[in-house]
Amino acid sequence: MTQASSKQQRDILVTSALPYANGPIHLGHMLEYIQTDIWVRYQNMRGQNCYYVCADDAHGTAIMLRAEREGITPEQLIDRIREEHQQDFRDFQIRFDNYYTTHSEENREFSEYIYRQLQNNGHIATRKITQSFDPEKNMFLADRFIKGTCPSCKAEDQYGDNCEACGATYTPAELINPQSAVSGATPIEKESEHYFFRLPEFSDFLTRWTRSGTLQPQVANKLAEWLDAGLQEWDISRDAPYFGFEIPDAPGKFFYVWLDAPIGYLASFKNLCNREGIDFEHFWKADSTAEVYHFIGKDIINFHALFWPAILHDAGFRTPTAVWAHGFVTVNGKKMSKSRGTFIMARTYLEHLHPEYLRYYFAAKLTSTVDDMDLNLEDFATRVNSDLVGKVVNIASRSAGFITKRFDGKLGNITEHAKLKQFIDAGEELETLYEGREFGQAMRRIMALADIANQYVNDEQPWVLAKQEGQDEQLQAICTNALNMFHLLITYLAPVLPETAKASEHFLNAALDWNNRSERLENHSINKFKPLMKRVEMKQIEKMLEASKEQLPAGKGTPEQADNSGAAPEPIADEIEFDDFAKVDLRVVKIVKAEHVEGADKLLRLTLDLGQGERNVFAGIKSAYNPEDLEGRLTVMVANLKPRKMKFGVSEGMVLAAGPGGKDIFILSPDSGATPGMRVM
Ligand code: MSP
Ligand code: ZN
Repeated sequence: MTQASSKQQRDILVTSALPYANGPIHLGHMLEYIQTDIWVRYQNMRGQNCYYVCADDAHGTAIMLRAEREGITPEQLIDRIREEHQQDFRDFQIRFDNYYTTHSEENREFSEYIYRQLQNNGHIATRKITQSFDPEKNMFLADRFIKGTCPSCKAEDQYGDNCEACGATYTPAELINPQSAVSGATPIEKESEHYFFRLPEFSDFLTRWTRSGTLQPQVANKLAEWLDAGLQEWDISRDAPYFGFEIPDAPGKFFYVWLDAPIGYLASFKNLCNREGIDFEHFWKADSTAEVYHFIGKDIINFHALFWPAILHDAGFRTPTAVWAHGFVTVNGKKMSKSRGTFIMARTYLEHLHPEYLRYYFAAKLTSTVDDMDLNLEDFATRVNSDLVGKVVNIASRSAGFITKRFDGKLGNITEHAKLKQFIDAGEELETLYEGREFGQAMRRIMALADIANQYVNDEQPWVLAKQEGQDEQLQAICTNALNMFHLLITYLAPVLPETAKASEHFLNAALDWNNRSERLENHSINKFKPLMKRVEMKQIEKMLEASKEQLPAGKGTPEQADNSGAAPEPIADEIEFDDFAKVDLRVVKIVKAEHVEGADKLLRLTLDLGQGERNVFAGIKSAYNPEDLEGRLTVMVANLKPRKMKFGVSEGMVLAAGPGGKDIFILSPDSGATPGMRVM
């Protein structure tokens, strides 16, 4: 019996916030979709019945105005943007069960139904309010659609309700020379009737709900402050012209976009249910035993943890099991900025880098809290290269070749049972970490296991055994042990790296089955190993930043942009003192032996005569020299470099070389008459 089938399968519905249909997806957004996707993939891997739905948030003034500027209908605009969004998500390996739009029939029906319920329960109020109005466009203007001169510091061109120059806050009516940002006309004040949801009636309900384990502690504390300060009625109507749903029996009045947006979660799921025959009621009736989770950013907590549960409760639906907020993404320690090139669109990233790099990096830094997260691009490259390429993939690449070449692709028997048990048992801890959204801790735990696996291979040195007679069984066992370790590691990483997981399944010719992970691979045929992942190069990152700057609107270039154009040469390292340099002991040495290294693409093993004993050094010069041409010749080495344990053995020093690489690496003094051991300077 598997570990999952001994427990009851959970029915789970998961959502991410619905991105606005008026702009492209950027890496800030991607944090949320990656976080959610990892959690959902984990649940499904464990055998839960977990659905993931989302949609474009298609309504509102901004979308209406943008369509108008582009000379198309709002429907045309939102269709186009939805295509782009879906392509971005697909390419980042975000696997939605349904990706819909809030501009749908299902959503109209739910919005109307819910509104009627609130109305029948006496929780809709109407009253007249006065607002700024554009007499040319004949539309009411939200604060951010009005600009003028700051009444306090007289800075011009300030938006809505606060001054970016001096920080003053005011009402749009107080602006000097206010103008409609839509038409340029001077706004007037106008009265109209609005519809309100009577949120204060739900103060007691919300006080209980927000304290019942549905929210992160930090979030619950923040909401307690708002609840103590007292809730206001919520204005849920907007006057025409507006792109949205008209309110029943209220001609010319539309639902405010934030009313029908979360209802879009229901609508997208309903659309999925109709298509796949899932029982919608089971998930959404008031006493449902299914679980519902919303993943959101910290900027939209009030909509999801106050308005939304109150509305669901009032309309007779269940409330979410939990709402989980994450923090905001900064890039290189600062807010994403167009002029720095750090306002990176999902598409721009994908044109330069593999999506799994970002999935892993975000996972490695994610916690269950609302703390912001920095995407430091150097750290990003280092982390991906050292963890994924250097540690995880390395285990497979070091062991697979022997199995293919020497054992006809067949694994032998496991001999390291205790070590493998450690890997299998770690799964339980990882279950808690994935479930609790502590992905960073999970990644650290997995990398600690990868260290153990690499250490094991280093200690056993299969490449040494491979050269000895009569060691076949031992060699096969070592590789079998190592590949079983790799199999478990990649199983644990599968929610984060779906594509690499799939490629590994093919390579290992075995499923990545978390629940049955104690079943190991013995006497089992595997396929030929193909490199699973390439290193991140800083050059790719630089190109991505350049491309992000190029997306600036014309005329908005910055001085820094000009400075950074062209491929930058690698900067000279920090200055060192002469004393530091004098510590380097450079000696002339004679190459007495040069040979190929099994499994290494770039390295030659050199035996160097130092005049006072020999040194074993690995040098990355295979592309330029045949070993036989090197023997007997002279070169310069760093003789006092601390020995370094490398993948293929210990390197006792370094030889110096010049040249761009490839065929052009020059390490030799042709015939200088120098004697081995001579100090170079
Ligand atoms: N349309 C609303 C959500 C409606 S949900 C019923 C919205 N859209 S959004 O496009 O602005 O943001 C979508 C999600 O991405 C939100 O959860 C938001 O917090 C998140 N993020 C947007 N920029 C972000 C960062 N820079 N960093 C992290 N998350 C970010 O809000
Ligand atoms: Zn000002």
